[in-house]
Amino acid sequence: MNALIIYASRYGSTRLYAEKLSEKTGIPAISYQNAPALFDIKTIIYLGGLYAGGVLGLSKTLRNFSPQKDQSVILITVGLADPEDAENRNNIRTALQKQLPEQLLGKIKLFHLRGSIDYQKLTAGHRLLMKLLYQAIKRTPIEKQSAENRAMIETYGKQVNFVDFNALDAILEEIRQ
Ligand SMILES: Cc1cc2nc3c(=O)[nH]c(=O)nc-3n(C[C@H](O)[C@H](O)[C@H](O)COP(=O)(O)O)c2cc1C
Repeated sequence: MNALIIYASRYGSTRLYAEKLSEKTGIPAISYQNAPALFDIKTIIYLGGLYAGGVLGLSKTLRNFSPQKDQSVILITVGLADPEDAENRNNIRTALQKQLPEQLLGKIKLFHLRGSIDYQKLTAGHRLLMKLLYQAIKRTPIEKQSAENRAMIETYGKQVNFVDFNALDAILEEIRQ
């Protein structure tokens, strides 16, 4: 197979981006739970939602994968915090170092997109996690809060949607190269 889009999504925003990319490129998109062996796929495009810093499903899918010379991996994170913020991008990269071997990370093209959240739709476990996180951040002085933390405070309890298909343009360019 020439290319495959693999996505890991809990609440749907990452899946929406994956389906849009699939529609625009003709590359099939499947959930990471159904991902086939990757050894004969030339371009692997992985999209994963950010959960407590880590990318959903990433370790499971790519941990033991070592790309051959003719293979390339594009990794796209989908989170609430603004990826225009350098500190936020750094945090994501640091988290990725814990999820993937260094030699693999060095070969990956990385992109960041913004997703959505609807607190009404969160699982009880996620709602509790967010509540604990919110309370912990609230106790931190504002000047010490990261962009990620501020995004969390600003969106807490609400329904927000930052999904923007125009943000796929740079990724489409990379895929078409
Ligand atoms: C429990 C939980 C943890 C989250 N952690 C982060 C995070 O560390 N960084 C971030 O930018 N967004 C975080 N988010 C927001 C999600 O990444 C965002 O809702 C994203 O759109 C989820 O993708 P999905 O809709 O495909 O599941 C978190 C959301 C939840 C519910």
